[in-house]
Amino acid sequence: MEPTAQRDRWLAAIGAAADDAALAAVEARLFGSKGEVLELVRSVTALPKEQRPAFGKAANSVKLEVEQALAQRRGALAQRALARELAADAFDPTEPGPRAARGSLHPITIVQNELVDLFTSMGFRWEDGPEVESEYFNFDALNIPRDHPARESQDTFWLGETSGQARCLLRTHTSPVQVRTMQRLTKQGFHPPLKVIVPGRCFRSETVDKSHEHTFYQMEGLVVDRATSTSGIGIAHLIHTMKTCLRVILERDVQVRLRPGFFPFVEPGFELDVNCPFCKGQGCPVCKQSGWIEILPCGMVHPNVLQKGGIDPEEHTGFAFGMGLQRVVMLRYGIDDIRQFMGGDLRFLRQFPEVVR
Ligand code: PHE
Repeated sequence: MEPTAQRDRWLAAIGAAADDAALAAVEARLFGSKGEVLELVRSVTALPKEQRPAFGKAANSVKLEVEQALAQRRGALAQRALARELAADAFDPTEPGPRAARGSLHPITIVQNELVDLFTSMGFRWEDGPEVESEYFNFDALNIPRDHPARESQDTFWLGETSGQARCLLRTHTSPVQVRTMQRLTKQGFHPPLKVIVPGRCFRSETVDKSHEHTFYQMEGLVVDRATSTSGIGIAHLIHTMKTCLRVILERDVQVRLRPGFFPFVEPGFELDVNCPFCKGQGCPVCKQSGWIEILPCGMVHPNVLQKGGIDPEEHTGFAFGMGLQRVVMLRYGIDDIRQFMGGDLRFLRQFPEVVR
């Protein structure tokens, strides 16, 4: 047989081997124990003597050629495998990236931000105070008597018992920051007029229901100025400020009413109510059948509180308010259950517009 007759078939088989396994099979067929190439080389012995040298030479050169083709193919396959591996790992800048889950602001944060913007535009400054508060600032400095029921354990989360020392608690309102701020500013030589707001988290040992939470948000407001015979902070300032604030934040004309309210740190004290948007004043569980929602206790700062803050009550007057932020948010968005705020239900939280500041 002509050595070159099979050569093309073998080279074609090698070239067609698509992977290592296929190539190994071809190699076994050609160079295995009964391999076709080896058979060809051996077949020289069956030839007449005079033909042997030429045939042998041709057969050997085919064998060499096939061996080279095998080695070449093996190299090409390895390179292709490597390229494929690299491509799988590669960073492709044209690929769309994974979608990041975008959060939205909590409704209380949204409304608090708006209130802060509104009040700072009216010249108020934002003050902060600790959530872990002393009994002194939370109660004593605010003219709240020792035997006042608000100090009882069902209302206040007390933090441990310390014999003889000032007791600490989770603040039950943002009012302690009134005296803290007055003390700090007067110590720094700062004199009224002063206008501050204090947004913050408060805690009370409450039974949770549709309209009560043990953890809630307030925004305290305090305005103090020097009283002269012709000017000074009065109830008219308080009413005007509250009306402005509620109109802006609730984005509608609200009806409000003032009722007398008792808080030891204001005199006179008021409860400011807005008409209930859920029942249009007919009476429903949210407004406890009254048609009104209590939203904002307020009043004229008690002289004892001014004094604790280092401000002479003979020469100064002021007003204060303590807005329940959840209430405002509930009215603004028509939410009828306060438990939604802390519930962590993403379906609830995702309903609020994303606001990036
Ligand atoms: N701190 C009072 C409360 O949480 C609210 C309040 C603030 C009342 C300021 C009057 C003036 O109940």
